[in-house]
Amino acid sequence: MRDHGLFITLEGGEGVGKSTQSRLLCERIQLHGFECVTTREPGGSPKAEALRNVLLSGAARPLGPMGEAVLFAAARIDHLDHTIRPALARGAVVICDRFADSTRAYQGALGDIDPRVIRTLEDVTIGDVRPDVTFILDLPAEIGLSRAGARRGAVPVDRFEGESAAFHQSLRQAFLNIAKAEPQRCQVIDANQAPDQVAEAIWRKVTPLLAALGKNGLAGSVDP
Ligand code: TYD
Repeated sequence: MRDHGLFITLEGGEGVGKSTQSRLLCERIQLHGFECVTTREPGGSPKAEALRNVLLSGAARPLGPMGEAVLFAAARIDHLDHTIRPALARGAVVICDRFADSTRAYQGALGDIDPRVIRTLEDVTIGDVRPDVTFILDLPAEIGLSRAGARRGAVPVDRFEGESAAFHQSLRQAFLNIAKAEPQRCQVIDANQAPDQVAEAIWRKVTPLLAALGKNGLAGSVDP
């Protein structure tokens, strides 16, 4: 059972700037006196990082989307147990770069797995540790891919970045569909602007949540 902290997830296609935004947001949260933990998926705990290597190398690809979804879920269980739940229990803010929505989009929508199966897997994997807010960083797929390519340099593409342009276009739509289905939780942020502007748009949405956290007497303070 979670009690309580603030759980923020960042989602979106390749190269939308999630890791930069995670860092900027965490710095700002810490300036206001809150404990903030940044983490990522797949990974975020030693066993989950080992599974990350299996998944991103493409070694699990022959298992198909359902097999990969189960491995992402296995990594998520370890990550929740060792990193996310303990931090939330301390009252910290957790910012996670990708979480269950990535499974819904990459394996579910793009892998054509029945959404009910994905939901069931999600229920048994994450239980009540649902994000309080999810920022979906939205960017045309071709811009994201070229940014990701520039960042990667000479390193070869990973398992998912190497998918077709059509895959990445559908992925963008899959994330927008998730946002549409859960508008209370999901905030779509235009990522086709300068990082500072993206950070400002995120900060405006986070401020009231932090104010509520501060009022609960857990830590820190921020003016709403
Ligand atoms: P990463 O290098 O962290 O990519 P990015 O910078 O785009 O976040 O690689 C994570 C990859 O794993 C990314 O291509 C999305 C994919 N992924 C899934 O397919 N399902 C999942 O549940 C998660 C968490 C990630």
